[in-house]
Amino acid sequence: MTGAIGVGLIGTGFMGKSHAIAWANAGRVMGDLPPVQLELLCDTPSDKAQAMARQFGFARATGDWRALVTDPAVDVVSITTPNGLHREIAVAALQAGKHVWCEKPMALTLADAEAMADAARKAGRATLLGYNYIRNPAVQHAVWLVKAGRIGRPVHFRGWVDEDYQADPTLEWTWRARKADAGLGALGDLGCHLVSMMLLLMGPVDSLIADAQIIHQTRPLPGGGRAAVENEDTATAILRFASGAQGSLCTSRSAWGRKNRLDFEVHGTKGMIAFAQERMNELKLYVNEGEASEAGFRTLLTGPAHPPFGAFTPAPGHQIGFNDLKVIEAAGLIQTIAGDATAWPDFSEGVKIERIIHGIAEAAATGVRKTFSAGEA
Ligand SMILES: NC(=O)c1ccc[n+]([C@@H]2O[C@H](COP(=O)([O-])OP(=O)(O)OC[C@H]3O[C@@H](n4cnc5c(N)ncnc54)[C@H](O)[C@@H]3O)[C@@H](O)[C@H]2O)c1
Repeated sequence: MTGAIGVGLIGTGFMGKSHAIAWANAGRVMGDLPPVQLELLCDTPSDKAQAMARQFGFARATGDWRALVTDPAVDVVSITTPNGLHREIAVAALQAGKHVWCEKPMALTLADAEAMADAARKAGRATLLGYNYIRNPAVQHAVWLVKAGRIGRPVHFRGWVDEDYQADPTLEWTWRARKADAGLGALGDLGCHLVSMMLLLMGPVDSLIADAQIIHQTRPLPGGGRAAVENEDTATAILRFASGAQGSLCTSRSAWGRKNRLDFEVHGTKGMIAFAQERMNELKLYVNEGEASEAGFRTLLTGPAHPPFGAFTPAPGHQIGFNDLKVIEAAGLIQTIAGDATAWPDFSEGVKIERIIHGIAEAAATGVRKTFSAGEA
C-alpha cells in the first residue's frame, strides 16, 4: 500500500472514543503497520463533532455521516453509532468503496445483517465487527489450548454474560427497550460477545433450545405514564455443537452486581479452562496430570508469552485493559486492508453470530428447537 489509510469515524460516545484511541495507537503499539491518517470525524450536532475532532486529533469534522462515507480522503469508516444506524451507514460506505469497521450487534434484524454481508461481498472491501473481547491474549490463549488438545476433547461449554444496567425497576424507559431502535435486548447487547468467544472455542453450532423473559414489562416515561419493554432482559440457551459437544449460554442485563461478567468454561476430557472478563489478564487451567495430591487449577497471568501482550508492555502480569483490545482489533483491520491478514469476524462471518442470537430469540418465542444447516452458524 502507498500513502496513509484515511480514517472516518462516526460517533464519539463510549465506542467512538475507544475506536479513536485504537486508530491513533495501533501503529504506535504494534509497530510494522501501514500508517493511518485521522481524517474525518462525524457526530451530531456538527459543533459537537468539531469539539471531539480536536480532542481525538482528527483533521476535519462533519455533522453529516453521508458526507463522511463519500469523502474521497476517507478509505475506512468506523461505525460507532447506535444499532439502528449500522445497516444504513455500512451499506452506504461499502457502496462508496470504503472498508468498514462496525460495532456489534451488526443490525436490528437478521435480514439487515444479511443485507450488510451482501453489500460487503459485492463491494469486495475489508469489513470487521467490534468483538473486542476475543482479541484478549488470555482468550486467544484459551483458544490455542483447546486447539492444541491441552484439555483433551472439548465436550461442554458454559458461558455467562451479565450486566445490571437494567436491573432497577424505577429506571426510565429508553430506546433500548424498543425493537425498532435497539433490535434484541440482552442477546443483542451482551449475548453476541459471548457467542463470538464460543464459536472460536467450540466451532459451529448445530441446534439450540432457549427461553427468555422480560422482567420489567413497562418502565416510567420521563413526562409521566409508562411504556412497554419490547425486548428480553434475560435469555438462556442450551446448545449442541456440530462437533457433538454440548453447551449452555446465559445472559442478563438485569443481574444486580454484575458490571461486565463475561465468563466461560470449556470442559474437556482431560481438563478444563475458565475465564472471567472482570479478571481479563488471567486464565484458569486444570489439567488432569501429575500427583493427585497436587491436583488443582493453575492461574496463568498473561504476559509477552501470550501475543500480542508484549507489544503493550514487556512485563508479564502488568496487565492490559479494555481499550487495548480495540487497539489489537484496529491493527487486525489495518493488516486486512493491507492484504496481510484476514481479521475475524468480517460481515459474512458475523452473520453467523446474528443467526445464533436471533435463533435463541426465535426458539424462546416458539418453544421449538432451532436447527442450523452446515456453515450457517
Ligand atoms: N464492542 C463493545 O464492547 C461495545 C461496548 C458498548 C457499545 N457497543 C456498541 O457500540 C455502538 C454505540 O454504543 P455506545 O455505547 O458507544 O453509544 P453512545 O450513545 O455512547 O455513542 C453513540 C454516538 O453516536 C452518535 N450518533 C447518534 N446518531 C448519530 C448520527 N445520526 N450521526 C452521527 N453520530 C450519531 C451519538 O451522538 C454518540 O456520540 C452500539 O452499537 C453498541 O452496541 C459496543
